[in-house]
Amino acid sequence: MKPPPAREPRTDVLVVGAGVAGLTAALEAARTRRVVLVTKTALGDGSTPHAQGGVAAPTGRADVPAHVADTLAAGAGLSSPAAVEALCAAGPAAVRVLAERGVDFDRGRDGGWALGLEAAHSTARVLHAGGDRTGAAISRALAAAVRRSDVTVHEDTFLLGLLTDGGPEGGTVTGAEFLTGAGAALRVHADAVVLATGGAGQLFSRTTNPAVATADGLAAAFRAGALVADLEFFQFHPTVAATAEPFLVSEAVRGEGAVLLDAAGDRFMPGVDPRAELAPRDVVARALVGAMAAHGGAPALLDARGVSAALGRPFAERFPSIARMCARVGLDPETDPIPVTPAAHYWMGGVRTDATGRTSLPGLWAAGEVACSGVHGANRLASNSLLEALVAGGAVAADTAGGPGPATFDDTVPETVTDVAAPAPPVAAHVGRRELQAALWEHAGLVRDAAGLAVAEKILTPQEDPVDLPATDPGVPRSAREDANLVLAGRLLVAAATARRESLGAHSRSDHPTTPHRPVRRSFRRTA
Ligand code: SIN
Repeated sequence: MKPPPAREPRTDVLVVGAGVAGLTAALEAARTRRVVLVTKTALGDGSTPHAQGGVAAPTGRADVPAHVADTLAAGAGLSSPAAVEALCAAGPAAVRVLAERGVDFDRGRDGGWALGLEAAHSTARVLHAGGDRTGAAISRALAAAVRRSDVTVHEDTFLLGLLTDGGPEGGTVTGAEFLTGAGAALRVHADAVVLATGGAGQLFSRTTNPAVATADGLAAAFRAGALVADLEFFQFHPTVAATAEPFLVSEAVRGEGAVLLDAAGDRFMPGVDPRAELAPRDVVARALVGAMAAHGGAPALLDARGVSAALGRPFAERFPSIARMCARVGLDPETDPIPVTPAAHYWMGGVRTDATGRTSLPGLWAAGEVACSGVHGANRLASNSLLEALVAGGAVAADTAGGPGPATFDDTVPETVTDVAAPAPPVAAHVGRRELQAALWEHAGLVRDAAGLAVAEKILTPQEDPVDLPATDPGVPRSAREDANLVLAGRLLVAAATARRESLGAHSRSDHPTTPHRPVRRSFRRTA
């Protein structure tokens, strides 16, 4: 039977993705323009509702310079100072807007917002809601606001690719093509397309990310010819429960005094870094891997038994979700140290954007984890992701009003661009998801070397001519389209990690331990 013709609506702004960045962009743009929002799951799904720790935001002007300094220090010299300054300065207003939209941030005894401490922050500045249910509270409020608004929403609708006018060097992006859950083609034409599709934790066997984090937006942008950058920098969260059902144990737990022990019960972080358990995430994750290796691979332990005494209230009141997930696997954080190992958590790299969220392709903007705005550099500061998604969502909404124009990339960090020959249409994955995840975990994970990266490259490179994935054929399972995106993203990550023969932030090369004096950003672009 012939499939029905594609529906081809036209709008002012098309937003793809419905986490905090996409929801914010849609709400802000809808103040003055027609907005269509498309997501492959449901409004508010994605990584946002899984965020436990909170939103880092200077709650007073006086804290802005220190938040800037902490963010730059974590970024290890690869962050763009102007982007970081803009992010931190926008923090107070961004969280006020969230509160106006109904997010009920937790309050302290004095009635003011309660501020948590997390790793590599020089002061307590992390706002949280529902204890450790911050992301869920934000998602709920923003999704409800979108449902009340004039935004046209398409859920369960998968991004196939971007539409362009066929001009030189990728041309101008004019819309995007999708396949609905019912198998119908949808082509949305728009003056501005905003990618807010999140990250790609599904590249790795162990991840805190939900199943939907499969690099769909990054792959579509790269295929269309957009610059992508910093792909070698993938953050691994140190404390994910090493239990039958792994779950994130927020850094905020260490912020409230929990300590890390090796399998023999000895605390190891003070010997690694003067900030001990509150050293930057990359430092803690690598130390944890070292402590595990010294004990035959046995997980380390997060000892939170002193947290209630420090807080003056039960652990479960401050961290209700974590307490519930511990209970499910028979652990009580009041009495039992929690076995933990690192897991893939956040991709600092992504579609290269300038301060307004413009990409290298006119007509295409990106916000949130799919973007590489230069804010996070080589290692993101804890709880800066929700802040960035909020601020960037608002910034792209404002900028799209001016219509397509060239991006102005910050050149404070020198940048090299490498052309990669790759096909424009998606091609079928030649490896299964588990094999791909195992290869990246094993050979392109926390610590890498040339030999391992070469093995990963071999696994991810098809040995035979690739087979195109038919664009709108509803018979192709969605997982096959996701696998195609993951293979492309994995190959780019491995290429970036291979090319960077030095160690910096989250990118650690055992064969090149030296840290560069002046880091260079590495970007990739597809050539036909
Ligand atoms: C956490 O709560 O530890 C995760 C928050 C983040 O990734 O910033």
